[in-house]
Amino acid sequence: MFYQVYVRSFADANTDGVGDLRGVRDRLGYLSLLGIDALWLTPFYRSPMADHGYDVADPRDVDPIFGNLDDLDELIRAAHQEGLRVTIDLIPNHTSDRHPWFMAAGSAPPGSAERERYFFRPGRGPDGAMPPNNWLSVFGGPAWSRLPDGEWYLHLFAPQQPDLNWSHPDVVADFEQTMQFWLDRGVDGFRLDVAHGMAKPADLPDMAEPQAPGVLKHADHEADPRFDNDGVHDLHRMIRRVADKYADRVLTGEAWVVDDDRLARYVRPDELHLAFNFRLLEADWNAEMFVEAITHSLNAMSSVDAPPTWVLSNHDMDRHVTRYGGGELGTRRARAAALVQLALPGVAYVYNGDELGLPNVELPDEALQDPVWERSDHADRGRDGERVPLPWNGAEPPYGFTEGPGTWLPMPADWGGLAVEAQLDDPDSMLSLYRNALEIRREHPAMSGDEVQWFGAPTGCLAFRRTGGLVCALNAADELVPMPPGEVVLSSGPLEDGMLPPDTAAWLV
Ligand code: NOJ
Repeated sequence: MFYQVYVRSFADANTDGVGDLRGVRDRLGYLSLLGIDALWLTPFYRSPMADHGYDVADPRDVDPIFGNLDDLDELIRAAHQEGLRVTIDLIPNHTSDRHPWFMAAGSAPPGSAERERYFFRPGRGPDGAMPPNNWLSVFGGPAWSRLPDGEWYLHLFAPQQPDLNWSHPDVVADFEQTMQFWLDRGVDGFRLDVAHGMAKPADLPDMAEPQAPGVLKHADHEADPRFDNDGVHDLHRMIRRVADKYADRVLTGEAWVVDDDRLARYVRPDELHLAFNFRLLEADWNAEMFVEAITHSLNAMSSVDAPPTWVLSNHDMDRHVTRYGGGELGTRRARAAALVQLALPGVAYVYNGDELGLPNVELPDEALQDPVWERSDHADRGRDGERVPLPWNGAEPPYGFTEGPGTWLPMPADWGGLAVEAQLDDPDSMLSLYRNALEIRREHPAMSGDEVQWFGAPTGCLAFRRTGGLVCALNAADELVPMPPGEVVLSSGPLEDGMLPPDTAAWLV
Protein backbone atom coordinates (compact mmCIF):
# COMPACT_ATOMS: atom_id res chain seq x y z
CA MET A 1 0.00 0.00 0.00
CA PHE A 2 1.79 3.08 -1.26
CA TYR A 3 0.84 6.65 -0.45
CA GLN A 4 1.93 9.26 -2.97
CA VAL A 5 3.07 12.43 -1.26
CA TYR A 6 3.06 15.38 -3.64
CA VAL A 7 5.57 17.17 -1.44
CA ARG A 8 4.62 20.71 -2.52
CA SER A 9 1.05 20.14 -1.38
CA PHE A 10 1.20 17.81 1.60
CA ALA A 11 2.21 19.97 4.58
CA ASP A 12 4.31 23.08 4.98
CA ALA A 13 6.56 23.33 8.04
CA ASN A 14 8.54 26.49 7.20
CA THR A 15 5.54 28.79 6.49
CA ASP A 16 6.45 29.71 2.89
CA GLY A 17 3.21 28.23 1.59
CA VAL A 18 4.93 25.31 -0.18
CA GLY A 19 4.95 21.82 1.35
CA ASP A 20 8.32 20.47 2.47
CA LEU A 21 10.14 17.45 3.89
CA ARG A 22 9.74 18.57 7.49
CA GLY A 23 6.02 18.90 6.82
CA VAL A 24 5.96 15.25 5.78
CA ARG A 25 8.00 14.24 8.79
CA ASP A 26 5.59 16.06 11.11
CA ARG A 27 2.63 14.19 9.68
CA LEU A 28 3.99 10.66 9.73
CA GLY A 29 1.70 9.82 12.64
CA TYR A 30 -1.26 10.53 10.34
CA LEU A 31 0.13 8.25 7.65
CA SER A 32 0.64 5.46 10.16
CA LEU A 33 -2.89 5.89 11.38
CA LEU A 34 -4.15 5.75 7.81
CA GLY A 35 -2.54 2.34 7.50
CA ILE A 36 -0.20 2.57 4.53
CA ASP A 37 3.07 0.67 4.12
CA ALA A 38 5.23 2.98 2.07
CA LEU A 39 5.56 6.53 0.81
CA TRP A 40 6.38 7.69 -2.65
CA LEU A 41 7.74 11.23 -2.41
CA THR A 42 7.54 13.29 -5.60
CA PRO A 43 10.80 15.09 -6.59
CA PHE A 44 12.44 17.32 -3.99
CA TYR A 45 15.76 17.85 -5.77
CA ARG A 46 17.36 21.14 -6.71
CA SER A 47 15.27 22.51 -9.50
CA PRO A 48 14.20 25.79 -11.11
CA MET A 49 10.67 24.28 -10.86
CA ALA A 50 9.68 24.73 -14.48
CA ASP A 51 7.76 21.46 -14.05
CA HIS A 52 7.59 21.56 -10.25
CA GLY A 53 10.68 19.52 -9.66
CA TYR A 54 10.50 17.15 -12.63
CA ASP A 55 13.19 19.43 -14.09
CA VAL A 56 16.21 18.54 -11.99
CA ALA A 57 19.32 20.71 -11.80
CA ASP A 58 21.08 18.57 -9.18
CA PRO A 59 19.70 15.08 -8.57
CA ARG A 60 21.82 14.59 -5.44
CA ASP A 61 20.67 17.50 -3.35
CA VAL A 62 17.43 18.80 -1.82
CA ASP A 63 15.99 22.05 -3.14
CA PRO A 64 15.97 24.65 -0.35
CA ILE A 65 12.25 25.14 -0.89
CA PHE A 66 11.75 21.57 0.38
CA GLY A 67 14.47 21.60 3.08
CA ASN A 68 17.89 19.99 3.09
CA LEU A 69 19.58 16.59 3.22
CA ASP A 70 19.34 16.49 7.01
CA ASP A 71 15.58 16.88 6.74
CA LEU A 72 15.46 13.94 4.38
CA ASP A 73 17.65 11.80 6.65
CA GLU A 74 15.41 12.67 9.55
CA LEU A 75 12.29 11.86 7.54
CA ILE A 76 13.69 8.46 6.55
CA ARG A 77 14.72 7.70 10.11
CA ALA A 78 11.38 8.68 11.58
CA ALA A 79 9.40 6.86 8.86
CA HIS A 80 11.37 3.68 9.44
CA GLN A 81 10.70 3.99 13.12
CA GLU A 82 6.96 4.13 12.33
CA GLY A 83 7.35 1.03 10.15
CA LEU A 84 6.89 3.01 6.94
CA ARG A 85 9.15 2.56 3.90
CA VAL A 86 10.26 5.58 1.90
CA THR A 87 10.55 5.56 -1.88
CA ILE A 88 11.49 8.59 -3.96
CA ASP A 89 11.08 9.74 -7.54
CA LEU A 90 14.00 9.63 -9.96
CA ILE A 91 13.93 11.40 -13.30
CA PRO A 92 16.17 9.54 -15.75
CA ASN A 93 14.70 10.80 -19.03
CA HIS A 94 15.69 14.46 -18.81
CA THR A 95 17.40 17.10 -16.71
CA SER A 96 16.64 20.74 -16.16
CA ASP A 97 18.06 23.19 -18.67
CA ARG A 98 19.88 24.61 -15.60
CA HIS A 99 21.72 21.33 -14.98
CA PRO A 100 25.49 21.95 -15.31
CA TRP A 101 25.66 19.53 -18.25
CA PHE A 102 23.05 21.41 -20.25
CA MET A 103 24.52 24.79 -19.37
CA ALA A 104 27.90 23.52 -20.63
CA ALA A 105 26.25 22.13 -23.77
CA GLY A 106 24.52 25.45 -24.45
CA SER A 107 27.74 27.41 -24.37
CA ALA A 108 29.75 24.81 -26.33
CA PRO A 109 29.65 24.85 -30.14
CA PRO A 110 27.61 22.53 -32.38
CA GLY A 111 29.32 19.17 -32.69
CA SER A 112 31.06 19.50 -29.31
CA ALA A 113 31.41 16.66 -26.82
CA GLU A 114 29.33 18.65 -24.29
CA ARG A 115 26.32 18.34 -26.58
CA GLU A 116 26.52 14.57 -26.85
CA ARG A 117 24.90 13.97 -23.48
CA TYR A 118 21.65 15.36 -24.95
CA PHE A 119 20.06 15.25 -28.40
CA PHE A 120 21.36 18.19 -30.42
CA ARG A 121 20.64 18.13 -34.17
CA PRO A 122 20.68 20.56 -37.10
CA GLY A 123 17.24 21.57 -38.33
CA ARG A 124 15.54 20.59 -41.54
CA GLY A 125 14.89 22.80 -44.56
CA PRO A 126 17.39 24.96 -46.48
CA ASP A 127 18.34 27.13 -43.49
CA GLY A 128 17.66 24.51 -40.82
CA ALA A 129 14.69 26.50 -39.57
CA MET A 130 12.45 23.45 -39.23
CA PRO A 131 12.79 21.02 -36.31
CA PRO A 132 14.86 17.86 -37.01
CA ASN A 133 11.74 15.66 -36.95
CA ASN A 134 8.00 15.97 -36.38
CA TRP A 135 7.94 14.86 -32.73
CA LEU A 136 5.61 16.74 -30.44
CA SER A 137 6.21 17.60 -26.82
CA VAL A 138 3.86 15.82 -24.42
CA PHE A 139 3.06 19.28 -23.06
CA GLY A 140 2.16 20.67 -26.48
CA GLY A 141 4.12 22.23 -29.35
CA PRO A 142 7.20 20.76 -31.02
CA ALA A 143 9.55 18.53 -29.00
CA TRP A 144 12.49 20.63 -30.25
CA SER A 145 13.76 24.08 -29.35
CA ARG A 146 16.44 26.03 -31.20
CA LEU A 147 19.50 27.67 -29.74
CA PRO A 148 20.82 30.98 -31.12
CA ASP A 149 23.63 29.10 -32.91
CA GLY A 150 21.00 27.31 -35.01
CA GLU A 151 21.09 23.81 -33.50
CA TRP A 152 17.97 22.22 -32.05
CA TYR A 153 17.67 20.12 -28.91
CA LEU A 154 15.08 17.52 -28.01
CA HIS A 155 12.67 17.82 -25.09
CA LEU A 156 9.75 15.40 -24.91
CA PHE A 157 8.34 17.61 -22.13
CA ALA A 158 8.94 21.35 -21.53
CA PRO A 159 11.84 23.16 -23.25
CA GLN A 160 13.35 23.43 -19.75
CA GLN A 161 13.55 19.59 -19.66
CA PRO A 162 16.10 18.53 -22.31
CA ASP A 163 16.14 14.77 -22.95
CA LEU A 164 19.27 12.91 -21.94
CA ASN A 165 21.11 10.66 -24.38
CA TRP A 166 21.27 7.32 -22.59
CA SER A 167 23.77 5.96 -25.15
CA HIS A 168 26.32 8.24 -23.52
CA PRO A 169 28.38 6.53 -20.80
CA ASP A 170 28.36 9.65 -18.57
CA VAL A 171 24.57 9.53 -18.39
CA VAL A 172 24.57 5.90 -17.28
CA ALA A 173 27.39 6.39 -14.77
CA ASP A 174 25.84 9.50 -13.28
CA PHE A 175 22.47 7.85 -12.82
CA GLU A 176 24.11 4.92 -11.08
CA GLN A 177 25.82 7.36 -8.77
CA THR A 178 22.51 9.07 -8.03
CA MET A 179 20.84 5.77 -7.19
CA GLN A 180 23.65 4.80 -4.85
CA PHE A 181 23.65 8.21 -3.23
CA TRP A 182 20.03 7.81 -2.13
CA LEU A 183 20.18 4.08 -1.43
CA ASP A 184 23.13 4.70 0.87
CA ARG A 185 20.97 7.22 2.74
CA GLY A 186 18.41 4.51 3.37
CA VAL A 187 15.68 5.10 0.81
CA ASP A 188 13.74 1.91 0.12
CA GLY A 189 13.33 2.34 -3.60
CA PHE A 190 12.45 4.54 -6.53
CA ARG A 191 9.61 5.51 -8.76
CA LEU A 192 11.15 6.00 -12.19
CA ASP A 193 9.68 8.88 -14.13
CA VAL A 194 8.97 8.27 -17.84
CA ALA A 195 10.52 4.81 -17.60
CA HIS A 196 9.26 4.08 -21.13
CA GLY A 197 11.01 7.08 -22.70
CA MET A 198 14.69 6.83 -21.89
CA ALA A 199 15.82 5.01 -25.05
CA LYS A 200 15.37 6.76 -28.39
CA PRO A 201 15.73 5.10 -31.81
CA ALA A 202 19.14 6.03 -33.25
CA ASP A 203 17.84 7.83 -36.34
CA LEU A 204 15.00 9.65 -34.53
CA PRO A 205 12.43 8.84 -37.24
CA ASP A 206 9.27 10.92 -37.68
CA MET A 207 6.11 9.91 -35.82
CA ALA A 208 3.57 8.27 -38.14
CA GLU A 209 0.85 10.60 -37.01
CA PRO A 210 1.84 13.35 -34.62
CA GLN A 211 -0.57 13.03 -31.71
CA ALA A 212 -2.55 16.00 -30.55
CA PRO A 213 -0.96 17.37 -27.39
CA GLY A 214 -2.25 15.88 -24.16
CA VAL A 215 -0.47 15.47 -20.90
CA LEU A 216 0.27 11.80 -20.67
CA LYS A 217 -1.14 9.16 -22.93
CA HIS A 218 -0.46 5.52 -23.53
CA ALA A 219 2.18 5.26 -26.21
CA ASP A 220 2.00 2.81 -29.07
CA HIS A 221 5.61 2.21 -30.05
CA GLU A 222 4.60 1.18 -33.60
CA ALA A 223 3.25 4.63 -34.40
CA ASP A 224 5.19 6.65 -31.89
CA PRO A 225 8.97 6.30 -31.88
CA ARG A 226 9.30 8.63 -28.89
CA PHE A 227 8.36 5.95 -26.37
CA ASP A 228 8.67 2.26 -25.48
CA ASN A 229 11.69 1.53 -27.63
CA ASP A 230 13.16 -1.91 -27.09
CA GLY A 231 16.47 -0.37 -26.03
CA VAL A 232 14.90 0.82 -22.79
CA HIS A 233 15.00 -2.66 -21.29
CA ASP A 234 18.79 -2.88 -21.12
CA LEU A 235 18.69 0.36 -19.15
CA HIS A 236 16.19 -1.09 -16.69
CA ARG A 237 18.37 -4.17 -16.30
CA MET A 238 21.26 -1.88 -15.39
CA ILE A 239 19.07 -0.02 -12.90
CA ARG A 240 17.95 -3.31 -11.37
CA ARG A 241 21.56 -4.45 -10.96
CA VAL A 242 22.30 -1.32 -8.95
CA ALA A 243 19.20 -1.76 -6.74
CA ASP A 244 20.05 -5.41 -6.19
CA LYS A 245 23.31 -4.46 -4.52
CA TYR A 246 21.10 -3.40 -1.62
CA ALA A 247 18.65 -5.57 0.29
CA ASP A 248 14.91 -5.16 -0.11
CA ARG A 249 14.61 -2.18 -2.42
CA VAL A 250 11.78 -1.65 -4.88
CA LEU A 251 11.67 -0.11 -8.35
CA THR A 252 8.38 1.12 -9.84
CA GLY A 253 8.30 2.34 -13.41
CA GLU A 254 5.99 4.91 -14.91
CA ALA A 255 5.36 3.28 -18.28
CA TRP A 256 2.49 4.58 -20.38
CA VAL A 257 2.38 1.64 -22.75
CA VAL A 258 -0.78 0.59 -24.62
CA ASP A 259 -0.18 -3.07 -24.93
CA ASP A 260 -0.34 -5.52 -21.99
CA ASP A 261 2.52 -7.62 -23.31
CA ARG A 262 4.68 -4.56 -23.84
CA LEU A 263 3.94 -3.41 -20.28
CA ALA A 264 4.86 -6.84 -18.92
CA ARG A 265 8.33 -6.49 -20.44
CA TYR A 266 9.14 -3.74 -17.90
CA VAL A 267 8.69 -6.12 -14.98
CA ARG A 268 10.52 -9.17 -16.23
CA PRO A 269 12.51 -10.82 -13.44
CA ASP A 270 15.69 -8.85 -14.15
CA GLU A 271 14.01 -5.44 -14.75
CA LEU A 272 11.73 -3.33 -12.54
CA HIS A 273 9.64 -4.83 -9.75
CA LEU A 274 6.46 -2.90 -10.49
CA ALA A 275 5.01 -0.87 -13.32
CA PHE A 276 2.17 1.56 -12.90
CA ASN A 277 -0.93 0.50 -14.69
CA PHE A 278 -3.25 3.37 -15.47
CA ARG A 279 -6.13 1.43 -17.01
CA LEU A 280 -8.30 1.68 -13.90
CA LEU A 281 -7.59 5.39 -13.65
CA GLU A 282 -8.63 5.79 -17.28
CA ALA A 283 -11.87 3.83 -16.96
CA ASP A 284 -15.07 5.85 -16.91
CA TRP A 285 -17.66 5.22 -14.23
CA ASN A 286 -18.82 2.03 -15.89
CA ALA A 287 -18.64 -1.51 -14.51
CA GLU A 288 -17.80 -3.08 -17.88
CA MET A 289 -14.88 -0.69 -18.29
CA PHE A 290 -13.72 -1.47 -14.76
CA VAL A 291 -13.84 -5.21 -15.48
CA GLU A 292 -11.91 -4.71 -18.69
CA ALA A 293 -9.29 -2.54 -16.98
CA ILE A 294 -8.85 -5.01 -14.12
CA THR A 295 -8.68 -8.02 -16.42
CA HIS A 296 -6.06 -6.38 -18.64
CA SER A 297 -3.96 -5.38 -15.65
CA LEU A 298 -4.10 -8.85 -14.12
CA ASN A 299 -3.32 -10.57 -17.40
CA ALA A 300 -0.43 -8.27 -18.18
CA MET A 301 1.31 -9.00 -14.91
CA SER A 302 0.49 -12.68 -14.54
CA SER A 303 2.54 -13.51 -17.63
CA VAL A 304 5.68 -12.33 -15.81
CA ASP A 305 4.57 -13.10 -12.28
CA ALA A 306 4.79 -9.47 -11.14
CA PRO A 307 2.21 -7.94 -8.79
CA PRO A 308 -0.43 -5.81 -10.53
CA THR A 309 -0.68 -2.14 -9.52
CA TRP A 310 -3.82 -0.03 -9.03
CA VAL A 311 -4.12 3.73 -9.27
CA LEU A 312 -7.25 5.91 -9.20
CA SER A 313 -5.60 9.34 -9.15
CA ASN A 314 -2.21 11.00 -9.22
CA HIS A 315 -0.67 14.45 -9.67
CA ASP A 316 -1.05 14.29 -13.47
CA MET A 317 -4.72 13.37 -13.80
CA ASP A 318 -7.99 14.91 -12.67
CA ARG A 319 -8.95 13.56 -9.27
CA HIS A 320 -11.45 10.71 -9.45
CA VAL A 321 -14.16 12.47 -7.37
CA THR A 322 -14.26 14.97 -10.23
CA ARG A 323 -13.87 12.43 -13.03
CA TYR A 324 -16.87 10.50 -11.71
CA GLY A 325 -19.15 13.54 -11.79
CA GLY A 326 -18.06 15.72 -8.86
CA GLY A 327 -20.13 16.82 -5.89
CA GLU A 328 -22.05 14.25 -3.85
CA LEU A 329 -22.39 11.93 -6.81
CA GLY A 330 -18.65 11.97 -7.55
CA THR A 331 -17.90 11.40 -3.87
CA ARG A 332 -20.29 8.48 -3.59
CA ARG A 333 -18.72 6.89 -6.65
CA ALA A 334 -15.21 7.61 -5.41
CA ARG A 335 -16.04 5.77 -2.16
CA ALA A 336 -17.24 2.79 -4.16
CA ALA A 337 -14.22 2.89 -6.48
CA ALA A 338 -11.89 2.91 -3.47
CA LEU A 339 -13.42 -0.36 -2.30
CA VAL A 340 -12.86 -1.88 -5.75
CA GLN A 341 -9.26 -0.64 -5.87
CA LEU A 342 -8.44 -1.78 -2.34
CA ALA A 343 -10.01 -5.22 -2.78
CA LEU A 344 -7.69 -6.13 -5.63
CA PRO A 345 -4.56 -8.24 -5.17
CA GLY A 346 -1.18 -6.58 -5.66
CA VAL A 347 -0.04 -3.05 -4.93
CA ALA A 348 -2.36 -0.06 -4.55
CA TYR A 349 -1.36 3.62 -4.65
CA VAL A 350 -3.32 6.28 -2.84
CA TYR A 351 -2.63 9.82 -4.04
CA ASN A 352 -2.57 12.31 -1.16
CA GLY A 353 -6.08 13.62 -0.75
CA ASP A 354 -7.80 10.53 -2.22
CA GLU A 355 -8.43 9.48 1.36
CA LEU A 356 -10.11 12.85 2.05
CA GLY A 357 -12.25 12.72 -1.07
CA LEU A 358 -10.71 15.89 -2.47
CA PRO A 359 -12.09 17.01 -5.83
CA ASN A 360 -10.18 18.93 -8.47
CA VAL A 361 -10.26 22.66 -7.93
CA GLU A 362 -11.26 25.15 -10.61
CA LEU A 363 -8.45 27.66 -10.30
CA PRO A 364 -8.48 31.16 -11.74
CA ASP A 365 -6.27 31.68 -14.80
CA GLU A 366 -3.79 33.81 -12.88
CA ALA A 367 -3.16 31.00 -10.35
CA LEU A 368 -2.21 28.41 -12.95
CA GLN A 369 1.43 27.30 -12.85
CA ASP A 370 1.63 24.04 -14.80
CA PRO A 371 3.71 24.54 -17.99
CA VAL A 372 0.92 22.75 -19.90
CA TRP A 373 -1.24 25.90 -19.64
CA GLU A 374 1.23 28.07 -21.56
CA ARG A 375 2.50 25.32 -23.90
CA SER A 376 -1.06 24.54 -25.02
CA ASP A 377 -1.79 28.22 -25.72
CA HIS A 378 -4.28 28.09 -22.85
CA ALA A 379 -6.24 25.25 -24.46
CA ASP A 380 -5.42 22.85 -21.61
CA ARG A 381 -5.63 24.14 -18.03
CA GLY A 382 -3.03 21.61 -16.93
CA ARG A 383 -2.62 19.71 -13.69
CA ASP A 384 -2.76 22.35 -10.96
CA GLY A 385 -6.38 21.48 -10.15
CA GLU A 386 -5.34 18.11 -8.69
CA ARG A 387 -2.33 19.57 -6.86
CA VAL A 388 -4.02 21.97 -4.45
CA PRO A 389 -2.59 21.72 -0.88
CA LEU A 390 -4.20 19.34 1.60
CA PRO A 391 -6.60 20.66 4.28
CA TRP A 392 -5.60 19.50 7.77
CA ASN A 393 -7.81 21.42 10.20
CA GLY A 394 -9.86 24.54 10.72
CA ALA A 395 -12.72 26.08 8.81
CA GLU A 396 -10.92 28.29 6.34
CA PRO A 397 -7.84 28.38 4.10
CA PRO A 398 -5.08 27.40 4.65
CA TYR A 399 -6.67 24.74 6.91
CA GLY A 400 -3.48 24.08 8.83
CA PHE A 401 -1.47 23.31 5.67
CA THR A 402 0.82 26.18 6.61
CA GLU A 403 1.15 28.75 9.33
CA GLY A 404 2.25 31.24 6.73
CA PRO A 405 0.02 33.81 5.03
CA GLY A 406 -0.54 32.06 1.70
CA THR A 407 -0.40 28.78 -0.17
CA TRP A 408 1.29 28.16 -3.52
CA LEU A 409 -2.10 27.41 -5.05
CA PRO A 410 -5.24 28.95 -3.56
CA MET A 411 -7.35 26.61 -1.42
CA PRO A 412 -11.14 26.65 -1.77
CA ALA A 413 -13.27 28.33 0.89
CA ASP A 414 -15.50 25.29 1.33
CA TRP A 415 -12.94 22.62 2.25
CA GLY A 416 -13.43 22.78 6.05
CA GLY A 417 -15.54 19.62 6.02
CA LEU A 418 -12.88 17.79 4.01
CA ALA A 419 -10.07 18.59 6.44
CA VAL A 420 -8.37 15.67 8.19
CA GLU A 421 -9.45 16.83 11.63
CA ALA A 422 -13.11 17.09 10.57
CA GLN A 423 -13.04 13.57 9.13
CA LEU A 424 -11.00 11.67 11.70
CA ASP A 425 -13.76 11.04 14.22
CA ASP A 426 -16.62 10.85 11.77
CA PRO A 427 -17.32 7.17 11.11
CA ASP A 428 -19.01 8.02 7.80
CA SER A 429 -16.18 10.12 6.39
CA MET A 430 -14.05 9.18 3.40
CA LEU A 431 -11.06 9.05 5.72
CA SER A 432 -12.78 6.52 7.99
CA LEU A 433 -13.72 4.45 4.95
CA TYR A 434 -10.06 4.35 3.85
CA ARG A 435 -8.84 3.53 7.35
CA ASN A 436 -11.34 0.68 7.69
CA ALA A 437 -10.63 -0.62 4.21
CA LEU A 438 -6.88 -0.52 4.73
CA GLU A 439 -7.15 -2.32 8.03
CA ILE A 440 -9.20 -5.10 6.46
CA ARG A 441 -6.87 -5.22 3.46
CA ARG A 442 -3.91 -5.59 5.80
CA GLU A 443 -5.34 -7.97 8.32
CA HIS A 444 -8.29 -9.99 7.08
CA PRO A 445 -7.39 -13.51 5.94
CA ALA A 446 -10.08 -13.29 3.23
CA MET A 447 -7.90 -10.71 1.45
CA SER A 448 -5.20 -13.24 0.67
CA GLY A 449 -4.19 -14.78 -2.63
CA ASP A 450 -3.45 -13.52 -6.11
CA GLU A 451 -6.49 -14.77 -7.99
CA VAL A 452 -9.58 -12.79 -8.94
CA GLN A 453 -12.61 -14.86 -9.83
CA TRP A 454 -15.44 -13.01 -11.57
CA PHE A 455 -19.09 -13.67 -10.74
CA GLY A 456 -21.99 -13.08 -13.03
CA ALA A 457 -23.44 -9.70 -12.01
CA PRO A 458 -26.44 -7.64 -13.16
CA THR A 459 -25.84 -5.24 -16.05
CA GLY A 460 -23.84 -2.24 -14.91
CA CYS A 461 -22.46 -4.14 -11.91
CA LEU A 462 -19.44 -6.28 -11.14
CA ALA A 463 -18.50 -8.82 -8.50
CA PHE A 464 -15.28 -10.70 -7.91
CA ARG A 465 -13.86 -13.00 -5.28
CA ARG A 466 -10.32 -13.10 -3.95
CA THR A 467 -8.64 -16.47 -3.40
CA GLY A 468 -8.97 -15.95 0.35
CA GLY A 469 -12.73 -15.56 0.02
CA LEU A 470 -13.38 -11.81 0.11
CA VAL A 471 -16.07 -10.78 -2.34
CA CYS A 472 -16.26 -7.25 -3.74
CA ALA A 473 -19.47 -6.15 -5.42
CA LEU A 474 -19.98 -2.83 -7.20
CA ASN A 475 -23.25 -1.38 -8.43
CA ALA A 476 -22.49 1.27 -11.04
CA ALA A 477 -25.99 1.05 -12.53
CA ASP A 478 -28.97 3.15 -11.46
CA GLU A 479 -31.17 0.61 -9.67
CA LEU A 480 -30.94 -1.45 -6.51
CA VAL A 481 -29.45 -4.90 -7.12
CA PRO A 482 -29.27 -8.02 -4.95
CA MET A 483 -26.01 -8.66 -3.14
CA PRO A 484 -23.88 -11.74 -3.56
CA PRO A 485 -24.22 -14.12 -0.60
CA GLY A 486 -22.06 -13.49 2.46
CA GLU A 487 -21.67 -11.26 5.45
CA VAL A 488 -20.97 -7.60 4.72
CA VAL A 489 -17.70 -6.44 6.31
CA LEU A 490 -17.60 -2.99 4.74
CA SER A 491 -19.71 -0.95 2.37
CA SER A 492 -19.08 2.38 0.73
CA GLY A 493 -22.56 3.64 1.63
CA PRO A 494 -25.75 2.51 3.36
CA LEU A 495 -27.36 -0.68 2.05
CA GLU A 496 -31.12 -0.93 1.55
CA ASP A 497 -32.84 -4.04 2.86
CA GLY A 498 -29.86 -6.14 2.03
CA MET A 499 -29.74 -4.74 -1.52
CA LEU A 500 -26.84 -2.83 -3.04
CA PRO A 501 -27.84 0.72 -4.04
CA PRO A 502 -26.51 2.52 -7.14
CA ASP A 503 -22.98 3.95 -6.94
CA THR A 504 -22.16 1.71 -4.00
CA ALA A 505 -19.70 -1.12 -3.38
CA ALA A 506 -19.56 -3.69 -0.61
CA TRP A 507 -17.10 -6.25 0.72
CA LEU A 508 -18.44 -9.56 1.91
CA VAL A 509 -16.90 -12.67 3.42
C1 NOJ B 1 5.62 12.25 -15.38
C2 NOJ B 1 5.35 13.02 -14.12
O1 NOJ B 1 4.41 12.31 -13.34
C3 NOJ B 1 4.86 14.38 -14.55
O2 NOJ B 1 4.37 15.13 -13.47
C4 NOJ B 1 5.99 15.09 -15.25
O3 NOJ B 1 5.53 16.33 -15.74
C5 NOJ B 1 6.51 14.27 -16.43
N1 NOJ B 1 6.69 12.90 -16.09
C6 NOJ B 1 7.84 14.82 -16.91
O4 NOJ B 1 8.85 14.55 -16.00
